[in-house]
Amino acid sequence: MGFIYENILRPILFKMEPEQAHDRGRAALMAMGALPLICKLIRRYNQVCEDNPVRLFGLEFPNRVGLAAGMDKDGEYPRAIEALGFGHAEVGTVTPEGQLGNPRPRLFRLPEDKALINRMGFNNKGSEAMLNALSKNYPKGKRKMPVGVNIGKAKITPLEEAVNDYVASFRTLADQADYFTINISSPNTQGLRDLQGAGYLHDLLQTIREENLSQAKKLGRDPHPLLLKIAPDLTFKEVDEIVSVLLELNYDGIIATNTTIQRPRGMSSTEKGGLSGGEYIRKRSNDVINYIYKATEGKLPIIGVGGIDSVEAAGEKIDAGASMIQVYTGWVYRGPLFARELAHALKSKGENWI
Ligand SMILES: Cc1cc2nc3c(=O)[nH]c(=O)nc-3n(C[C@H](O)[C@H](O)[C@H](O)COP(=O)(O)O)c2cc1C
Repeated sequence: MGFIYENILRPILFKMEPEQAHDRGRAALMAMGALPLICKLIRRYNQVCEDNPVRLFGLEFPNRVGLAAGMDKDGEYPRAIEALGFGHAEVGTVTPEGQLGNPRPRLFRLPEDKALINRMGFNNKGSEAMLNALSKNYPKGKRKMPVGVNIGKAKITPLEEAVNDYVASFRTLADQADYFTINISSPNTQGLRDLQGAGYLHDLLQTIREENLSQAKKLGRDPHPLLLKIAPDLTFKEVDEIVSVLLELNYDGIIATNTTIQRPRGMSSTEKGGLSGGEYIRKRSNDVINYIYKATEGKLPIIGVGGIDSVEAAGEKIDAGASMIQVYTGWVYRGPLFARELAHALKSKGENWI
């Protein structure tokens, strides 16, 4: 399948404008996800289960490979993602109301670097639409893998009121999320990354945590695991500040990293946006992961993401200190069964990599 994808399907898809190809892929995955029996058959071939499920944040993951946020923005096809061998899906980024995102074109391929640049700007249908999609197509309680919901701030919301957006989406989606990721690291919503600064961060994370605890108490259930997703463009001093807030507030984990606004020397594209895939982000996210792992003595679980395009690159993330990984751009370049290949490799080498 890898051969067929890379030599036949990918060249056809890559002839299309990138977002058009993305839309076609989305339509195919939605069609597949709408057929539970077909998904079941496909899953039989692709599913990779570790000998013991990966236990993290109080959840059980069948394997260590997840789909990174931004692909399934509205939670429309996690059943198809499950059938293709992933061990979890992170859906979103979702905002309380739907929004269009930035004008097109806003997604660009850099095939020579196996990379993408995007400035999508959180195009999504809003948290109610995501709630309906998840409840209908992949309801909690009938899942074989966890679904994380990645929440963000709307374009029109001023930074001082950003917390209201996070709390609103949290409330709407609490019944269907297995964990939540607080996204303050996408480069395409103006000012969003300012929330990573210590001034905003503590209040933001504390308010979400309090909401989580009070809701859990009211409903008599466990609170949701809460994760924070950070940018690769932070200094280590800034990473230190963020990590100390996470530890103080008992956050469950960190996702490192989002796309970068830096460009490697010699990169030809001058498009603005976040760079993903390829060697530059891979190395940078490995450094950030390893820094956090050492700084916290492994006490804060890390999901490693950025530039994974091979089994070796996945292994580097685990070596650096990640407990699980996510992929996005590598999946676009390597094809639908890439997650299965990674999950197999991590399973068979698992014991040596922990
Ligand atoms: C087109 C595109 C859209 C993305 N949208 C989001 C998003 O909405 N929220 C988010 O947290 N990350 C988003 N990301 C970042 C990815 O989740 C991931 O962190 C990043 O791409 C690095 O991983 P990769 O090199 O495997 O792609 C997006 C990435 C791409 C390429």
